[in-house]
Amino acid sequence: MRSTILSMLQRSDKHLSGEIISEKLGITRSAVWKHIKSLKNEGYEIDSVRNRGYKLISAPSLLNEDRLQSLVDTSLIGKEIKVLKTVDSTNEEIKRLARSGAENGLVVAAECQSAGKGRFSRQWSSGVDGGLYFSVLLRPELPPSDIAAITLAVGYAVCLAIIDYTKLPAQIKWPNDIIIGRKKVCGILTEMAAQSDRVDHLIIGIGINVNNPSFSAELKEKATSLFLESGSRLDRNAFLACVLNHLDTALQNYFLSLSIDGIEHFKSLCATLERQVTVQRGGQQITGTAFDVSPSGELLIRTAEGQEIAVNSGEVTVQGIY
Ligand code: BTN
Repeated sequence: MRSTILSMLQRSDKHLSGEIISEKLGITRSAVWKHIKSLKNEGYEIDSVRNRGYKLISAPSLLNEDRLQSLVDTSLIGKEIKVLKTVDSTNEEIKRLARSGAENGLVVAAECQSAGKGRFSRQWSSGVDGGLYFSVLLRPELPPSDIAAITLAVGYAVCLAIIDYTKLPAQIKWPNDIIIGRKKVCGILTEMAAQSDRVDHLIIGIGINVNNPSFSAELKEKATSLFLESGSRLDRNAFLACVLNHLDTALQNYFLSLSIDGIEHFKSLCATLERQVTVQRGGQQITGTAFDVSPSGELLIRTAEGQEIAVNSGEVTVQGIY
């Protein structure tokens, strides 16, 4: 009920009378007032004027389940959203919930993580610093071999959401880091529980530097935030909802069918192509030019000797990018 009132206020640029809200929702005016009071207690600034009604002035900067729910327009991702103040890692929390039967599409977000994880067992810095930390549970009916395409779909969707919301020139560093210029703005950690022929569930953990005002000396050469790039603070709830909306579309439209279209869309945003790259493989270092992405998501590299190599995991260093 509260999230419906919130969406009504969000959609109106004038004051909305308590009477109209109560008639639309079939509740009393005093029940409307109680919901308005609880929204105010959570930090929503709502102007109340006798005989005119209520107008939303500003939303709190903390993540909020009702607000997110009122902004998300998806068929799968974020049908259920949980927001936590703090957690060890949103990936770990989803893993626990998945074991006790949580549903496909569940999203868990946290204001901070005490043990945020990055790829290659690295730490992901996760303080209350304007960053977004969230994970999505997927239960795709696919064999494990098709998961690479989902990983690409997620990177593509986040990149598109950043471009859509901020107009910044975000690009993807294969497979799914998001960069602006030469610096990283988002990292994605996908974890899978599978049998040999069937995926049980997939956990997609996404960390986005949104309103971070600065980075430590160690990170500042390679990390940036949307705030630092655009000069304005983002509404984190609205932006997260935008990411979830894009994720839903990308997963449904382009990639679950593993279509050629999906890969073409991905390639159009991929900064790694046509660049010199170095990859570690079986203790060996291979250098070459990244010239394509295969339909199943591998990076294709041509060495100076003309040998073509398909890479499907491992760390890729791209010349000119962090
Ligand atoms: C990377 O190394 O680039 C991946 C970073 C992924 C970080 C996110 S933050 C939310 C989720 N929870 C975690 O512990 N990690 C992921």
